[in-house]
Amino acid sequence: MKSTLLFALTLLILIGCKDEETTAPPAATSVTVTDAQLYQLTMSTHKAAFYKNSTDTIPGNSGAAHAGKVLVWYNAKAKEQLDAQGKVKSGASFADSSLIVKEIFNSSGTKLYYAIMFKLSNASNKGAGDWVWSELNADGSAFISAADKGAICGPCHSTGIAYTRMNDTHP
Ligand code: HEC
Repeated sequence: MKSTLLFALTLLILIGCKDEETTAPPAATSVTVTDAQLYQLTMSTHKAAFYKNSTDTIPGNSGAAHAGKVLVWYNAKAKEQLDAQGKVKSGASFADSSLIVKEIFNSSGTKLYYAIMFKLSNASNKGAGDWVWSELNADGSAFISAADKGAICGPCHSTGIAYTRMNDTHP
């Protein structure tokens, strides 16, 4: 099941990349990324990098949607936009299939949510910055669905580099 979903997602991403080189009709380029797919992706993806190269949880910014402790990691594609210190490069531009996950914990260390940014410029449900935005409960159920297209996420993230907020809130 897990690998089927991953395969489907990978396929969709590949199709998306191909479309940039060809001139397929718009209808064929649009894919919808579901919360379930994002959960599978989050569970199975190799954490290629952590913000500031640290696997420690840090206190979340009080201005963020959730307080508590946070841990932010990046897949291999997103890691390409980090510098040697593990911070987002100034002027960064994330390529399609970049994945950034903020794991949110309560003060006693219990994981509550996964806040997810998945870059896919041909997603029908992409939001600000061509990111698909989703926030999932720890069990994978949607807290704020990717179907909402990041309506509440985008405005708050718009001030950051390529819509990322770690650099300015955790310098
Ligand atoms: C009220 C402002 C605000 C809203 C709304 C918000 N965020 Fe954030 N987000 C932040 C801040 C500030 C950070 C920096 C980390 C921290 O301290 O929590 C952050 C960090 C993140 C990160 C880590 C990557 C990075 O550098 O930005 C992800 C992923 C993320 N948010 C996803 C989301 C999603 C998905 C939503 C909507 C469901 C959302 N956020 C809504 C303020 C916000």
